[in-house]
Amino acid sequence: MAIKILPAQLANQIAAGEVVERPASVVKELVENSLDAGATRVDIEIDKGGSKLIKIRDNGVGIEKQDLALALSRHATSKVACLDDLDAIMSFGFRGEALASISSVARLTLTSKTAQQDEAWQAYAEGNDMAVKVVPAAHPVGSTIEVVDLFFNTPARRRFLKSDKTEFTHIDEWLKRIALVRSDIHFTLTHNGKLVRNLRPTTTEAQYMQRLAQIGGKAFAESALKVDCQHDELALSGYLQSPTAAVVGQDTHYFYVNGRLIRDRLVNHAVKQAFADVGMTEQPAFVLMLTIEPHQVDVNVHPAKHEVRFHQSRYVHDFILQALQSALSQLLENEPIELNQQHSVAVSPQVSESTSSYSSVMPKSYASTDEYQVSSRYSDQPFGGHKVYW
Ligand SMILES: Nc1ncnc2c1ncn2[C@@H]1O[C@H](COP(=O)(O)OP(=O)(O)OP(=O)(O)O)[C@@H](O)[C@H]1O
Ligand SMILES: [Mg+2]
Repeated sequence: MAIKILPAQLANQIAAGEVVERPASVVKELVENSLDAGATRVDIEIDKGGSKLIKIRDNGVGIEKQDLALALSRHATSKVACLDDLDAIMSFGFRGEALASISSVARLTLTSKTAQQDEAWQAYAEGNDMAVKVVPAAHPVGSTIEVVDLFFNTPARRRFLKSDKTEFTHIDEWLKRIALVRSDIHFTLTHNGKLVRNLRPTTTEAQYMQRLAQIGGKAFAESALKVDCQHDELALSGYLQSPTAAVVGQDTHYFYVNGRLIRDRLVNHAVKQAFADVGMTEQPAFVLMLTIEPHQVDVNVHPAKHEVRFHQSRYVHDFILQALQSALSQLLENEPIELNQQHSVAVSPQVSESTSSYSSVMPKSYASTDEYQVSSRYSDQPFGGHKVYW
């Protein structure tokens, strides 16, 4: 068969196959763009579980008129210019293809205004070659992206969508996860015209605990053990459900690396191991944020960016394990524990880079390689067996 260059729309639809799995993935990509644009408020409007409408409005920096067409083109990004940028990336986006992918499988319009412009402009892509039309519009500084009739032209994908309620639950679940790590942002979520979440930005720890209670449940927030640990260029912060509290709210198993929500067997193993060491077979809730020097982690390993690869995976595993072990053991030493109280433990574990201490706690496959070939014993679902969609 003769070799041909694919039309732009088809190439984008193929790329969309990896990234745009369901409405929640569209919400993820669009909200991440809003956050990368420095927005402090993001309003998410959903109709019919997102299959009819996904509308994201932000107050970020907006897009210049002359860049609107590029924003909808594949391999066009403002976030990286060279390989060095990618090695130290801190933005959510870097692939330059989310908008192009989404607009190839839905009717997408992008309306935007920058502070320097007097007028707003609206862009949409049409046809096989996805030529972009730009027309004047009314909009304050920031952007609104409307995605209508998701998968209208890819019926096989559309058939995979679940009920509106299920799809909306996936969207809400993703929002919960991002809202805990970006508590500085005001998020609203509306479904079929009804306001479902109004998450105001938090500035104090007390306000953060309220957000944690809203999202992870009261039981988790009330017994939360604070983790705050630093060693060299690694820092782990967040909250664990106290092992002395009844294990409830088990769905809240959230781990972030440099603000990015990830699933990672190595991380999951370290967390599980720490809880197992204090006799917890069921995994209590946790919200943990790892900060690592960006050169030490490769974020370009998964098309939807759900995974990362640590350059020193054993070291990171050991750091997380020891940080959590120290926090948990200090809490247990301080018995009797007053329940319904927030516990705070600052720990500084001694982490060595020698490999000998890893063999007892690391999955075998990690002991010799950074590859993610995990033995069946450790191949359980990330986040404690709960299947998650982003
Ligand atoms: N809400 C927004 N506000 C401001 N600029 C935006 C917004 N959404 C997209 N952009 C601009 O459009 C470009 C393309 O967005 P797109 O999501 O397709 O790619 P990306 O974010 O660069 O990479 P990725 O494909 O990894 O998400 C971005 O690099 C950014 O410059
Ligand atoms: Mg993006």
